[in-house]
Amino acid sequence: MPGGFDYRLPAVRSLRSPTAFRDLAPSTASFRDAVLAGLRRTSKQLSCKFLYDERGSQLFEAICDLDEYYPFRAETDLLRRHAAGIAAALGPGCQLIEFGAGATVKIRLLLAALERPSAYVPVDISGDHLRQAAAALAADYPGLPVIAVCADYTRRFPLPDLAPGAGRRVGLFLGSTIGNFSAPEAIAFLATAAEQLQGGGMLVGVDLKKDPAVLDAAYNDAKGVTAAFILNLLTRINRELDGSFDLANFAYVGAYNADAGRVEMFIESRRDQVVRVAGQPIRFRSGERVHVENSHKYSVAEFRALAAHAGFRPENVWTDAMNLFSLHYLAAP
Ligand code: TRP
Repeated sequence: MPGGFDYRLPAVRSLRSPTAFRDLAPSTASFRDAVLAGLRRTSKQLSCKFLYDERGSQLFEAICDLDEYYPFRAETDLLRRHAAGIAAALGPGCQLIEFGAGATVKIRLLLAALERPSAYVPVDISGDHLRQAAAALAADYPGLPVIAVCADYTRRFPLPDLAPGAGRRVGLFLGSTIGNFSAPEAIAFLATAAEQLQGGGMLVGVDLKKDPAVLDAAYNDAKGVTAAFILNLLTRINRELDGSFDLANFAYVGAYNADAGRVEMFIESRRDQVVRVAGQPIRFRSGERVHVENSHKYSVAEFRALAAHAGFRPENVWTDAMNLFSLHYLAAP
């Protein structure tokens, strides 16, 4: 494995359940520094990885249940329908490494079809959520070693070394999370993954370009769950960084930008105001926006070109009849 890790390597701590948990979680100090730096910019921004505290992870699962949020259903349908073909592409006896494992719903669909997977390594930034999801999965698959890693996978982190003969490494990067990166960030992430997974491959879920009305509905649901998910970041800052955000003074704005090929999500200030974060005053003008997330949409050809640029060899692609969503198997030569 290449050097230059951002973290020290703690020992694997065994729990009573047949899971191990490695805590490489980013510190509160790094959260504070990133939030203050983002809010002091002329064009304010906060990273979407901070959306996933315990409450944020729950709200994201609620988004996946919404009628308007088609990506979750489209992707799980593809996994169900093509489980056998996907399992054949991944190969027998592989180690599964899932970046952004969340509630581990999707891996269960693949486990039903995979031939003798040797281990499951879910990686997620949301520690408590990951611990619970990994323990539940391990209880349901008693023969499968589960090694959960709490980490910010947008930075290089060490993967657990399994016993020799544990099989080739196959990454899973689902939910179109790849779309939350800019193109250069996506290439950097994929290039690191291609190194980590050398000799194996990666299955990536990628949302496709489509009618902007469908996209606008998916990111502006009628029940306001998406708004609650985004604004929860302010509640998190209030709690963890002694912030003074009044949520009534901020609104969620999400819209498709056709030129940039992405949905853009913002928190907008409803008035001129000063908010304190970690003792620092932050000024907002009325209508000023904090950029929180992008969700880039690709064509199949665009994504294959991007993956090839990062050092993968694009192989199989599975899409649905309505061309909503795509699953790509990329070999890591
Ligand atoms: N990866 C998901 C996506 O881009 C994340 C997501 C879904 C999201 N809905 C959201 C992020 C709403 C912010 C706001 O589709």
